[in-house]
Amino acid sequence: MKKLIVIGDSGHAKVIKDIAVSLDYRIVAVLDDKYTERTDSSIIFSPLIHLNEIIKETNGKLVIAIGSNEIRKKMIEQYDLADEQFVTLVSKAAHISPSVTIGSGTVVMPGAIINADVHIGRQVIINTGAVVEHDNVIGDYCHLSPNATSTGGVTIEQGTHIGAGAIINPQVHIGEWCTVGSGAAVIHDIDGYTTAAGLPAKAIKYRGHRI
Ligand SMILES: CC(C)(COP(=O)(O)OP(=O)(O)OC[C@H]1O[C@@H](n2cnc3c(N)ncnc32)[C@H](O)[C@@H]1OP(=O)(O)O)[C@@H](O)C(=O)NCCC(=O)NCCS
Repeated sequence: MKKLIVIGDSGHAKVIKDIAVSLDYRIVAVLDDKYTERTDSSIIFSPLIHLNEIIKETNGKLVIAIGSNEIRKKMIEQYDLADEQFVTLVSKAAHISPSVTIGSGTVVMPGAIINADVHIGRQVIINTGAVVEHDNVIGDYCHLSPNATSTGGVTIEQGTHIGAGAIINPQVHIGEWCTVGSGAAVIHDIDGYTTAAGLPAKAIKYRGHRI
């Protein structure tokens, strides 16, 4: 059986663990700083400080079950984790076109649909019921929340979070490390580091500051 170490133990992690088990992974360790010390039973529960030793001991592959794009990126840098240490988890209940490419560490949740000629980067979350239409390019560390819809030919640069139920019009370009509010309709391009919300979506913050 394939061994898996899960980093993060939130609600998002519950969904990821369900997917992993359905794909015949055995969860050997769960790491989260809510655990104050390491306890070894059939599954190891531990704070993150023990990550490297647990990787060595178990020889498990990794998945980061943390919704924050920034934190996933920081964690990889802090622990110097390589792409080949990660699995790519795609729920059996997702529909993925054969022409899609998906990077390491990415998770695709139940009900997600990813259509033809889409490229999805590393450490991305395609959440429950999200739709990624043909010819999208989704950068590393992005997160498409539940029921977000990215229509044909959209490009989303790295680190961008698309809120639940947001809709992105065809051919739109969204820059890096943006946040799109829940329920937004994105009809124009969005510059990097912008928070945009509403119908139609308008910029409300730039680099965290109100506009
Ligand atoms: C858009 C969003 C990022 C703004 O969060 P924030 O930076 O903390 O900003 P605030 O909550 O201070 O809101 C700023 C303004 O935007 C408005 N606003 C917030 N979210 C909005 C949304 N989804 N749609 C429309 N307007 C929104 C607020 O009412 C407020 O307006 P006001 O200044 O007139 O009172 C956030 O509300 C959001 O929608 N995040 C996505 C959540 C999500 O889908 N998570 C999925 C997890 S799986």
